[in-house]
Amino acid sequence: MSPDSHAIETMLLEERRYEPPPEFAAQANAQPDLYERDWRELWETEGRERLTWFQPFTELLEWEPPYARWYVGGTLNVCFNCVDRHVEAGNGDKVAYHWEGEPAGERYALTFAELQREVVRFANALRGLGVAKGTPVAIYMGMVPELPIAMLACARLGAPHTVVFGGFSADALADRVNDMGCEVLVTQDEGWRRGTPVPLKRNADEALESCPSVGRVVVLQRTGSAVSMRQGRDVSWQDAVSGQPDDSASCPCEPMDAEDLLYLLYTSGTTAKPKGIVHTTAGYLVGVATTHHYVFDVKPDSVYWCAADIGWVTGHSYIVYGPLCNGTTGVLYEGTPDYPDKDRWWEIVERYRVDILYTAPTAIRAHMKWGPEYAQRHDLSSLRLLGSVGEPINPEAWRWYREHIGGDRTPIVDTWWQTETGMILITPLPGVTTLKPGSATKPFPGVDAAVYDERGNEVGPGAGGYLVLRRPWPAMLRGIHNAHDRYVETYWSRYGDVYFAGDGARVDEDGDFWLLGRVDDVMNVSGHRISTIEVESALVDHPHVAEAAVCGRADPQTGQAIVAYVTLKGAEEGSVAMLEELRDHVARKIGPIAKPANVVFTPELPKTRSGKIMRRLLRDVAEQRALGDTTTLADPTVVEEIQQRAEAEKSAE
Ligand code: PRX
Repeated sequence: MSPDSHAIETMLLEERRYEPPPEFAAQANAQPDLYERDWRELWETEGRERLTWFQPFTELLEWEPPYARWYVGGTLNVCFNCVDRHVEAGNGDKVAYHWEGEPAGERYALTFAELQREVVRFANALRGLGVAKGTPVAIYMGMVPELPIAMLACARLGAPHTVVFGGFSADALADRVNDMGCEVLVTQDEGWRRGTPVPLKRNADEALESCPSVGRVVVLQRTGSAVSMRQGRDVSWQDAVSGQPDDSASCPCEPMDAEDLLYLLYTSGTTAKPKGIVHTTAGYLVGVATTHHYVFDVKPDSVYWCAADIGWVTGHSYIVYGPLCNGTTGVLYEGTPDYPDKDRWWEIVERYRVDILYTAPTAIRAHMKWGPEYAQRHDLSSLRLLGSVGEPINPEAWRWYREHIGGDRTPIVDTWWQTETGMILITPLPGVTTLKPGSATKPFPGVDAAVYDERGNEVGPGAGGYLVLRRPWPAMLRGIHNAHDRYVETYWSRYGDVYFAGDGARVDEDGDFWLLGRVDDVMNVSGHRISTIEVESALVDHPHVAEAAVCGRADPQTGQAIVAYVTLKGAEEGSVAMLEELRDHVARKIGPIAKPANVVFTPELPKTRSGKIMRRLLRDVAEQRALGDTTTLADPTVVEEIQQRAEAEKSAE
């Protein structure tokens, strides 16, 4: 096939539309009338009916931009809504999670009644360690059932948590623990990743050397390896819970105000310091449970699998709080998709008869690369609905996902949202919306999204601009922890009382949204947000680095890949050894996900006269020149080009 005919075919395929199958539409939780609901009525009804309140709310919303208060006057407990009430309603024997460990054969089911007992036991253990309402707790674990158990135990006690992704380094953990002032840390000896143990406790020990606020550490024995335990500070999970009562009355759910802090989750912004995004109790829970119900079309007998990590917001909202609030049976998988072989996910789908699968484009592209034969080894006929999140999904990956995983029959919900939004905001409703591969389609009912130009005018169909949200929504962030000015500046300064999402977007003639990626200095690598400045700071932290500039380039696998331009100090010369050292240094400072794919040593960085690094130029260079997937040393022509362009830019000033 000639390149031309291929290009034409691609364009034609992108025009393809997928109507909801009539059988799906007929039984769908979300019907077309959902779009006609008045937003206040919708959130009031969902709030009243979807949650169990200790005290009903008296007012839906108090909006004093840029701060919202939802369900004012209501009191409730998130753990009660996610666990206890299902047991009280007679659903204690229903499976809450099918857990699948990474090592072959390790699996068990945890019912809601068992989950309740485990949560109560651990909450009692935490109380014994001094945790009470308001005590900040950090959780640094892998994908084991004890992770949601720890989160729910905190929620039960009214102790806000911050979960730190198990792939983050000691430094990243310490930054988060210190920003929140955590008093207790819950971790585990080691995690499993692709057959290799991840030394969580060792990282935690390193982090805790600079975390004076942490007085107690709970360590789950997961792999059973010997780890150092500091006397008086560390206690094993197993010892902490042994002998603790497990009946719910022994540890009642703390009544919380609708606006009490539920958790902080740190995410990258445009500075080196991650932002502690504030999520509170009632609005967050209403938002995630409502969207989970309608977007994923979850039924009482569904087996729902969100294959994200709980350490990210996707896992908080759509593995833990949303699904459990709706009493849904979920799958929790500890390891990677290719261990022991590349059909592991499909084996899991077949084993549990999963009907709803939610994952990220980067994972879909990995499966695409491995080939459909792995999926073909298994019976995937149970799947009814597929979901995508984390980055724009390219139409090819969308179609591969539908054809090879969804049997060419399942709708796909491409869901746009952020750590800050807490809940899905732009998404198809699977029984209603006509799907277009690559488009997240329409704002969720009640959500007012638009695309603005630089001056704050709404742009017409087809034109690109900035994605904004013009009306508050229940799960929205309530600020950045201890950073009011940064909160205002990041989200609310560009267009006044309108939320600035930091994403480019366009809306087509049908009112469908197409997301175009970040417009700030934030990269999206495998669906994870990493700030350029954070990686630059990590590089400059290395004793031999004088200066560094970082940008993203398109990558067929990970969406974006990190390219670092580095100037070394004095007489230091770039070498392969130095390059590896720098990549490892970044992994140590932030985590392996932030490792640059390419490091280019250059005698100088292109700057404007005022000394600002010209990242836009570096991005151009990185995009245009195929530096390749493997790390390369400086190609002198790249550097020359950087310099030439810098010259051109200077003379244009
Ligand atoms: O750029 C958008 C992209 O991911 C960013 C949010 O990242 P994070 O807070 O880590 O949360 C990821 C999971 C919710 C957004 O600003 N993004 C997320 N979902 C999509 C997306 N871009 C395009 N399409 C999506 N469906």
